[in-house]
Amino acid sequence: MTSVKPLSAHKRLLEWVDHWAGLTGADRVVWCDGSAAEYDQICSDLVESGTFVALSDERRPNSYWATSDPADVARVEDRTFICSRRQVDAGATNNWRDPAEMKATLTELFTGSMRGRTMYVVAFSMGPLGSPISHIGVQLTDSPYVAASMKIMTRMGQGVLDALGEDGDFVPCVHSVGAPLADGEADVTWPCNADNKYIVHFPETREIWSFGSGYGGNALLGKKCFALRIASVMARDEGWLAEHMLILKLTSPLGEVRYVTGAFPSACGKTNLAMLIPSLPGWKVETIGDDIAWMKFAADGTLRAINPEYGFFGVAPGTNNKTNLNAMLTLSGNCIFTNTALTDDGDVWWEGMTDEPPAHLVDWKRHDWTPESGTPAAHPNARFTAPASQDPAIAPEWEDPEGVPISAILFGGRRSGVVPLVTESFDWDHGVFLGSIMASETTAAAAGAVGKLRHDPFAMLPFCGYNMADYFSHWLSIGSTGSQRQLPKMFYVNWFRKGSDGSFLWPGFGDNSRVLEWVFERCSGRGEAVTTPIGLLPAPGAIRTEDLDLAADAMETLLAVDAEGWLGDIPSIRAFYGSLGDRMPEKLVSQLDNLDERLRAGG
Ligand code: OXD
Ligand code: MN
Repeated sequence: MTSVKPLSAHKRLLEWVDHWAGLTGADRVVWCDGSAAEYDQICSDLVESGTFVALSDERRPNSYWATSDPADVARVEDRTFICSRRQVDAGATNNWRDPAEMKATLTELFTGSMRGRTMYVVAFSMGPLGSPISHIGVQLTDSPYVAASMKIMTRMGQGVLDALGEDGDFVPCVHSVGAPLADGEADVTWPCNADNKYIVHFPETREIWSFGSGYGGNALLGKKCFALRIASVMARDEGWLAEHMLILKLTSPLGEVRYVTGAFPSACGKTNLAMLIPSLPGWKVETIGDDIAWMKFAADGTLRAINPEYGFFGVAPGTNNKTNLNAMLTLSGNCIFTNTALTDDGDVWWEGMTDEPPAHLVDWKRHDWTPESGTPAAHPNARFTAPASQDPAIAPEWEDPEGVPISAILFGGRRSGVVPLVTESFDWDHGVFLGSIMASETTAAAAGAVGKLRHDPFAMLPFCGYNMADYFSHWLSIGSTGSQRQLPKMFYVNWFRKGSDGSFLWPGFGDNSRVLEWVFERCSGRGEAVTTPIGLLPAPGAIRTEDLDLAADAMETLLAVDAEGWLGDIPSIRAFYGSLGDRMPEKLVSQLDNLDERLRAGG
């Protein structure tokens, strides 16, 4: 093994790197300094090896196209494990294995797994370096694609190693694609170990071990594994929140500012909402983050949020100049595209990017494609990896180490029926209840069936690193400690309601600003609401739609209390609560009973 000089004098880090270099049999160890020159070198190596195709300098400068193994295209929830010492601490919604047994299994798999490959040491900060809300991780990976992606998605390299000093705390993250190379064996463009994927978290020791996949949340360990699963455990223990939420800045025509977070399941439009261009004149939305929020109470009682990420790993299909112009502009260069299609002039394309598809493409399986092919040219979970700083709507304060004060929290899923366009909770506990009963139709972001309704509380079902019932208690406790805390208001939104003909009732996208306006007004003690059995709904006319071309009774349906529908949902919510075990907080069960009663009483 050859080793480049370590860029750190951190004894525990050096020993840990040595241990894994030895165990995995990596040919070389490279300490990433995070420089542009290093990124360029990794990318040109990836072009050389065929993993990357460099896109046209005119069309998409400094950008690359990659395609994965068809057996490695999304997060694998059934191969994701929470290995707490006791099974009950992982809870009913997580796959659990005994940590010692899992470590034994994985140690065997990791032994020699990096033979013939380079192990990159990627030190990264989740959140601005030096922020009291940020945390540091170090990922070892044998995937140069992952090392390059981490440069976009996190603040990585020498600055982080310097911040760690000789004894700073870090979350150790080990990643191997699980595809060692024998002497002289030619590599494939997307090495992985399709039949042996393990995405493993050890919450008590705050470690992450990931094996077999090179894709997205399975492999970019700062994101779902650290910033959500491990951080949710840290947050529980330390009294803060690590959430699957976008963060946006909303400015009214009078120049008043409010910050809003929103929990929506994967591929339900968080990126679009965070970059929204309001259709309401005078309003402005700016981005703080599009996927993850870390929130802590500050001394002044405000709940302060940072975006722990540095880039966007967004779903490409469906993104276009009309649905998300800011995203399209963000993607104008310096990006990595994975599993999109490639155009004949060296650019990328995906379904929905243009009204008419190009006459010829290379599809995500690297086959020739024409509109007659009858298969999607881009995989439905094709992704862009883009620097957040390129977003024209990025808020100037997006890197403020103190975070931004949150006034409102939105919960939302993909529901074709029952759930109104927007409902405000009666109070904090009722808001936690609304978050806990979120359900959404599944998307291509995870392997498995698409369009199936599943309970996805707080959009955290695949990302909560501990017992979901304890997670609910944690949320309840956040609202009950300290009256000096300024608790955000909570809202349940649903952009995806359909009419009897199966078409969407609400136009969504820029017109979601109409709902944001009502949220803003409610946070400012204005905005009219009516009390209903399910919560506070906008009073008729409180959401401005005069200039919208809506179906005749669309608003009525969108803001109606579908008592029958809700009563129909209650048994499945009860069963879901029941499945979470005996740590399920009584308070939420009472919330459900009360809802049931209010609905039956009709008011
Ligand atoms: C993501 C996801 O990649 O939620 O953000 O799947
Ligand atoms: Mn996500």
